[in-house]
Amino acid sequence: MAFSDEERRALVALVEWYDAMGVDGVVGDVAIDRLAARSLPEPSPERSASRPAMAEGAPRTPRAPWEAQPTVAGEAPFESPFPVSPPTPAARPSPPPLPSLRPTPAVPPIGAGPGAVVPDEAAVETARAAAASASTLAELEAVMRAFDGCNLKKTATQLVFADGNPAAKIMFVGEAPGRDEDIQGKPFVGRSGQLLDRMLAAIGLDRTNIYIANVVPWRPPGNRTPSPQETEICRPFIRRQIELVSPEVLIFLGGASAKVLIGSTDGILKLRGRWERYALPDHTIPCMATLHPAYLLRQPLQKRLAWRDFRALRAILTGAAASAAD
Ligand code: URA
Repeated sequence: MAFSDEERRALVALVEWYDAMGVDGVVGDVAIDRLAARSLPEPSPERSASRPAMAEGAPRTPRAPWEAQPTVAGEAPFESPFPVSPPTPAARPSPPPLPSLRPTPAVPPIGAGPGAVVPDEAAVETARAAAASASTLAELEAVMRAFDGCNLKKTATQLVFADGNPAAKIMFVGEAPGRDEDIQGKPFVGRSGQLLDRMLAAIGLDRTNIYIANVVPWRPPGNRTPSPQETEICRPFIRRQIELVSPEVLIFLGGASAKVLIGSTDGILKLRGRWERYALPDHTIPCMATLHPAYLLRQPLQKRLAWRDFRALRAILTGAAASAAD
């Protein structure tokens, strides 16, 4: 079946959404009609056992200190020092709509208002030159504020450049700002940022000793996933930002930033917790992807995996695991 460019873009956006949500495999290539399949048997035990987090008898990953503890019968419930309100279904972003197979008139991409720039190689080239021209973070922020090559700037309230300490040893990179970040002009200040702060505190860090930024510095309208073109245009800026900060360790919050910055193709559940190397102009530094705090708000059980990653981070910062990451 031949797809139009628009249908192809919508399908790519859908697959990227699945990727961002941590889906890294398919369980069948024939669609199941769930309404007709009401009488289908429950999944077999073997199938359930292949899901590591749920496997019966599987070694339990240590519980994260910021997650709620189970209540033991007869005991008062343990109050987590970092209580997290239960995820609301409404907080979950909905997947991009499937493309209509009917021919649709050519329309500009979502967020491309009047005078919007069509993303193309010229915009990427301009971004590269602008990023390379900056020799300090202040200059980089100024060139990014002046840059008009990304459509997202037209719908965002403001540039969300960075937060934290530019002299920090450790830099975190997320995907793109959300609503709260767009309003306040700082990355990770909404619910997921608050969870991140609790996770940092659990390993003795806060925003005075980390630096944090996003691959895309403008909020995509409706918090949609940035398109591949938008990401490509913004990539020279985040790369330059990493060069100028020159951290000792880089942590990707979610699979999307790891994909953009080290070209990883694995889903986040496979990728997380693995030390890789990130290339700066004259040396490489250890980098690792971990689960995005927004994902953890929706999947609280996975916090134990993030806790493993944060302990590995603490170990590398204290030098204990330096050889493991060399
Ligand atoms: N999610 C991100 O990836 N970045 C932010 O700044 C906020 C939420």
